[in-house]
Amino acid sequence: MFVGLVSELPRPASALHLLFFLLTVWDCLFTVSAEFVGEQFSASHVLVHCIPRPEISTGHSIYLNKARLASVRPHQPSMRLLSSLSFLLVVRETYASWLDFGIPPSSETVDVRVFNVANGTVVNAANTLISPILPGRESIAVPIFAFLVEHKRSRFMFDLGFRTDPLNFAPSVASLFTTGVIQLEEPFKGITELLQDGGIPLDSIDAVIWSHSHFDHIGDMSKFPNTTELIIGSETDTQTFPDFPNATLQTSDLAGRQVTKIDFAAANLTFSGLKAIDYFGDGSFYLLNTPGHLPGHMTALARVTPTSFIGLGGDTFHHVGEARPRPSVSEELPLSCASFRGGKDVHIDRLFLQLLAVSDQPNSFYADPVTSQVSLEKIATFDADPDIWVLVAHDMSLRDVIPYYPAYSERLESEQFEGEDSVELC
Ligand SMILES: *[C@@H]1O[C@H](CO)[C@@H](O)[C@H](O)[C@H]1NC(C)=O
Ligand SMILES: *[C@@H]1O[C@H](CO)[C@@H](O)[C@H](O)[C@H]1NC(C)=O
Ligand SMILES: *[C@@H]1O[C@H](CO)[C@@H](O)[C@H](O)[C@H]1NC(C)=O
Ligand SMILES: *[C@@H]1O[C@H](CO)[C@@H](O)[C@H](O)[C@H]1NC(C)=O
Ligand SMILES: [Zn+2]
Repeated sequence: MFVGLVSELPRPASALHLLFFLLTVWDCLFTVSAEFVGEQFSASHVLVHCIPRPEISTGHSIYLNKARLASVRPHQPSMRLLSSLSFLLVVRETYASWLDFGIPPSSETVDVRVFNVANGTVVNAANTLISPILPGRESIAVPIFAFLVEHKRSRFMFDLGFRTDPLNFAPSVASLFTTGVIQLEEPFKGITELLQDGGIPLDSIDAVIWSHSHFDHIGDMSKFPNTTELIIGSETDTQTFPDFPNATLQTSDLAGRQVTKIDFAAANLTFSGLKAIDYFGDGSFYLLNTPGHLPGHMTALARVTPTSFIGLGGDTFHHVGEARPRPSVSEELPLSCASFRGGKDVHIDRLFLQLLAVSDQPNSFYADPVTSQVSLEKIATFDADPDIWVLVAHDMSLRDVIPYYPAYSERLESEQFEGEDSVELC
């Protein structure tokens, strides 16, 4: 794991940056060990938390909100002085900007509208998604978002959520429901019904993009007309049941329509270290290569105003505690830990590191946890930009504040997150 992450790190630009890295690691070890005294905490978690991350080590722009400076300093008095000095020397007082990621300017935009297709609980198996799991927090409740994206020339979906009849998934997936590992609040309407109820005919949906081929993103493609194209990452496993008895997809998921594979080998753009494809060629919607969660996992940047974006983050992370807090994140972002039952509160100002890592358990839903964590680190640099709102598919902290369809999503106003000055450690 360590080797994989280290190979992703940029080299320090100067001795000053090297000093800054060392202080960061030093402080992290203190912070992490202090927060987790007596708790379950694995060595790999410390590694993931304590290596310098690209967004604070490029030396080019340090994505640090000035307002957070006071709260990210180390707690050890001796270190506080040293790191204050290094901050003064190293931090350029710049705020993050989408321009820093090399995203070309454009006035072309798309509209994004969000559906919460279903609420589900992963019962006694939160460790398949996140790490570490503390006692009493073995289950995790999540919403399941799907996104309608409208471009002047095209209308399409980014993910579809669950089908309403989960026992009709391919058998290897249906077993998750018969064994009760995943419980859904029922009844709920599938995305095709939600779209039609909202006055959107299915034959007006030109394409469906799957961030990846997990059951909670693929919906029921057979309900879309054969004119709706399916767009998937080229690495996606397209074996289907019954030809392959334990395939997670089945014939009806792919049959009878054009299936287009996005090959990032041809991509000539890179944002935050992620290969990007300009989907319409006009800067309004970029697909991003974010491997790790599942082969072919893709995310997207939707330009909703000429200077702001929604990052459609798929399953790069499941819980805000994996992306935040970090020095780079602006204060108004949500940090609630609403998806966990019970738990103890930790004040944000005692932490500047994200609380959680992606699960690296043998039964993890993350096919390649190390690559996933690297993709997460890169997505987290977007999260640090006030002009990019990263919306992953299962962010419980947003479930009750998102303006859903028919409302258009640009960016939530910070007032909607007021009162969140502490997070539950989970
Ligand atoms: C999900 O839960 C929220 C909060 O209870 C509720 O408002 C919403 O209607 C639920 N959505 C579905 C699809 O069940
Ligand atoms: C697509 O579906 C229509 C009716 O739903 C059918 O008439 C047509 O033959 C189908 N086209 C293909 C290529 O399968
Ligand atoms: C797939 O099924 C075969 C038997 O049909 C089994 O031996 C194998 O372990 C299964 N693979 C997975 C990944 O479940
Ligand atoms: C990047 O790729 C797109 C097509 O994928 C092409 O239209 C464009 O000209 C390329 N740009 C450069 C600078 O090569
Ligand atoms: Zn998912």
